[in-house]
Amino acid sequence: MSNIRQREKLGLQGGMKAVSRIEGRGEPKIGIDEFMSIVERFGISRANRERIRALLRDEPWEAGPFLANYYSGLKETKVQAYEAMARRVFGVPFAIATSSGTGALHAAFVATGVGPGTEVICPAVGFIATAQAVVLARGVPVFCDVDASLAMDPAKIEKLITPRTVALAPTHVMGSVCDMGAIMKVARRHKLRVVEDCAQSCGAHWHGQRLGTIGDVGAFSIAAYKIVGGGEGGLLIAKQQRMWERASQVVESGGLWRPERFAAPRYKGELFCGANYRLSELEAAIDVVQLRRLDGMVKRFRGVKQRILKRLKPYREILPQKLNDAAGEVGYTLRFFPADVRLAEQIAAALNAEGISCSTRGRKSGPDWHLASFMYPVLARELASGDNCPLTCHEYRKRGGPARYQAPDCPVADDLFARLVTVNLNQWYSPRDCANVAAGINKVLSAYCKEGGENVWM
Ligand SMILES: Cc1ncc(COP(=O)(O)O)c(C=O)c1O
Repeated sequence: MSNIRQREKLGLQGGMKAVSRIEGRGEPKIGIDEFMSIVERFGISRANRERIRALLRDEPWEAGPFLANYYSGLKETKVQAYEAMARRVFGVPFAIATSSGTGALHAAFVATGVGPGTEVICPAVGFIATAQAVVLARGVPVFCDVDASLAMDPAKIEKLITPRTVALAPTHVMGSVCDMGAIMKVARRHKLRVVEDCAQSCGAHWHGQRLGTIGDVGAFSIAAYKIVGGGEGGLLIAKQQRMWERASQVVESGGLWRPERFAAPRYKGELFCGANYRLSELEAAIDVVQLRRLDGMVKRFRGVKQRILKRLKPYREILPQKLNDAAGEVGYTLRFFPADVRLAEQIAAALNAEGISCSTRGRKSGPDWHLASFMYPVLARELASGDNCPLTCHEYRKRGGPARYQAPDCPVADDLFARLVTVNLNQWYSPRDCANVAAGINKVLSAYCKEGGENVWM
C-alpha cells in the first residue's frame, strides 16, 4: 500500500497514526523554580540555595509533581499519609485532612446534624470560629458560661438545653482539658451529639482518653500558631462511618472521597451541597511530620508545667486555673486569676520584668474574639447575605427561636477573662529553667499577695 493510502486510512483500521510523536519539548508545570521557592520559604541561605539548585538540575523532572491528594498516581499521597498518621495517633477509624480548623468544625457540625432551627451550646471562652462554624452549618450558637477551668461549666449546660439543641461543642482552651466526664453525662442524658474543639489542646488527654475521641467528632486546627502545624490546616476525627461520610461531603463536595465518584447516592442524604476544605499536599507534607512529633512535644510541655506547678506556693489572692486533668493537659500555658484586674496588671508587669513571659488583658484592652461577649458578628446576627438566616430565620422562629444574647449572659467568663494572667511555657525548659521560673513566680506573688489559704495549684 502506498504511503499516501496508508496515511489516509483510519488509525482504527490499521492506518498510519496522524500523530505518532510530539516534537515540542515542554518544561514541567511545577519544577525547579517552584521547589526553590519552597526552599527559600524555609529560610535557607542564598549560598546553600545555589547548591540545591545545582543539584536539582540533574533531576529528571519530566512533567513535574502533581501536588494534589486525588489522582496523583502515588501509592500514598502526603494527605493520605497525614490522615493515616492521625488515625494511628488518635486510635480512631476515620480522619479527614482539612485546610483549616474552621473547615473541620463546619464539617463536624454538619456531620452531627446541625441545620436550620437547631442550636449548639458553645463555651463563652474559646474562639469565635466555633460559633461561626455553627452558623455556617446553619445552626445557632448558644453560649454557656465557664468555671474556673475556663471551660464550659457542666453544671450550667442543662438550663440552656431547648427542644432545638442538637449538640454540645466544648472547647479545650490553651492546652487544658474540659471536664469531659460531666459533659458527656449531660449529652447522653439529653441524647445530644458532642463536637470537641481541640484546636488549642491537640495531644491532650482526659483521664487517659485522647481529646477528640471522647465526643462524636473531634476538630483540630493545625495552623502555625497551634501545638503542631506548619501554616494553615486542620483535622477532623470521627468514630462513626456515617459521620465521616457527611463530613467528607462538606470537605470534598466533588465526590472524590467516594468509592465511585459519579455514582448515584448510595442512600438518602449521602450527597448534598458541600464545600471544598481539601488540604494541600505541601501543607500535608509538613503536617504528617509534625503529627508524628506530637506526643514528644506534649510530653515535654507536660513535664515542664508539672515541675513548675509542684514548686508554687498557695496565695490568698490568687486562684489558679482549675485543672480538670492535670496529668492529661498539654501544659503550654500556666494560668491564674488574681483577685482583681489591677492586681493582675501589677503581677503581669512584675513577672515580665523578672524575665517570665506572660500576659493579661488589662483594663484598657479592646475586644477579643476568644470571649463570647465580644463575638459581634454572632451576637449581632451579622451574615454576609444580610438576611440573617439561620439566626432569625422562619424555620428557627417556628421552633421557638431566636436565642437572645443579653450581656452579661456569661458573667463568670467576663470576670475571669478580665483578670486572667497567662504565663507562656516553653517545652525546651531544662529542670533548672523550671526551678527559676517557679522561683520567679513565687517571688512576684509574695511581693503582692499573702501566702497561704486553700488555693493550691494542682
Ligand atoms: C478554639 C479554636 N477553634 C477553632 C479555631 C480555628 O482554626 P483555624 O484558624 O485553623 O480555622 C481556632 C484558631 O485559633 C481556635 O483557637
